[in-house]
Amino acid sequence: MGEKRLVYMDHSATTYTRKEVLDAMIPYHAENFGNPSSIYSIARASKNAIDIARAQVAKALGADPEEIYFTSCGSESDNWAIKGIAFANRKKGNHIITTKIEHHAVLHTCEYLEKEGFAVTYLPVDKYGLVDPAELEKAITDKTILVTIMYANNEIGTIEPIAELGAIARRHKVYFHTDAVQVIGNLPVDVRAQNIDLLSLSAHKFYGPKGVGALYIRKGVRIDNLIHGGGQERRRRAGTENIAGIVGLGRAIELATADIEGHNRRIRAMRDRLLKGIMEKIPHAYLNGHPEKRLPGNINISFEFIEGESMLLWLDDEGICASTGSACTSGSLEPSHVLLATGLPVEISHGSLRLTLGNVNTEADVDFVLDVLPKVVSRLREMSPLYQKSGKEGGCNVQ
Ligand SMILES: Cc1ncc(COP(=O)(O)O)c(C=O)c1O
Repeated sequence: MGEKRLVYMDHSATTYTRKEVLDAMIPYHAENFGNPSSIYSIARASKNAIDIARAQVAKALGADPEEIYFTSCGSESDNWAIKGIAFANRKKGNHIITTKIEHHAVLHTCEYLEKEGFAVTYLPVDKYGLVDPAELEKAITDKTILVTIMYANNEIGTIEPIAELGAIARRHKVYFHTDAVQVIGNLPVDVRAQNIDLLSLSAHKFYGPKGVGALYIRKGVRIDNLIHGGGQERRRRAGTENIAGIVGLGRAIELATADIEGHNRRIRAMRDRLLKGIMEKIPHAYLNGHPEKRLPGNINISFEFIEGESMLLWLDDEGICASTGSACTSGSLEPSHVLLATGLPVEISHGSLRLTLGNVNTEADVDFVLDVLPKVVSRLREMSPLYQKSGKEGGCNVQ
């Protein structure tokens, strides 16, 4: 019997750690185990390794090494940026602007700050998930201290006009933070040209290890610390450094940004063929997100008369790893806040599927999904009383 095929199309959830990255990390779990705060030579080796990684991250973002701080993940970077700016600039104002489609690392942090006396504006998005720069400009008041808007959305892949939004914040002398967790390796970043004051990233989204991230903080930004303790990260973020993780992040960002164009071309070609095939083969399907301004590997589609969780289980049974927009919280299926913000009706948002392609995928994977997915959707629809009642069949909705 042959081995069961595994098709991984969930690169926005996480990626594997590349071999070159693992190779760079291993010595820092073994012979180079010194604490960088100590003064003997193996400790110095650890300190040097962190310096190299800091320079690698800085180069990828167009920043200076002194503007890069290592954290434990993208969520910590988001928390630090938002709470740190809020608490350090409270005297100036208590107003923060974000969007309705942010990751929960941003949304829940903003909700926490509302309980602490801050006022938060959640900007709407259009049907593609795009923020209107004019809406941002209108929302800024003399109490606004921070604008935090994601660079690209993790569910629908929509890419926001970051440089333009950053320019508006800069003009009003308001700090601008962007969650770029889904972007590194997929789109070029230049924090200076894009008017970015703070930027979050996370290694496990670009073929680095889990449990390590970074926050870019432009020189001169007034920000409080989040984690108090020892004097690590130039007294800004306490805790003995995750040296192997930091080394891995540095090597991963170097590799991920070496040929963004080439990487995109390959992934986008596979993604486009898969999307076209799905739309041709499966009726009553709607593409979520922007048709062009979207991450190269992202597909997010809603299928009418389908329940997303069941679709995922059936796909898993066939060896396909994917995601849905609904999350099972406390026993009830919560529709995606991102899809709802784009105006998608609750019933349709329940039948959404996210496929995110990346380095592990091949043309054979695309063929496999194009063979399996239509059968899964059609079997689920056969079982759906709503589908039977609707009398719908055939047809094709390409948006
Ligand atoms: C847009 C975005 N922000 C933040 C995070 C959180 O990153 P981490 O898992 O490293 O905490 C994620 C993870 O999925 C994400 O997609």
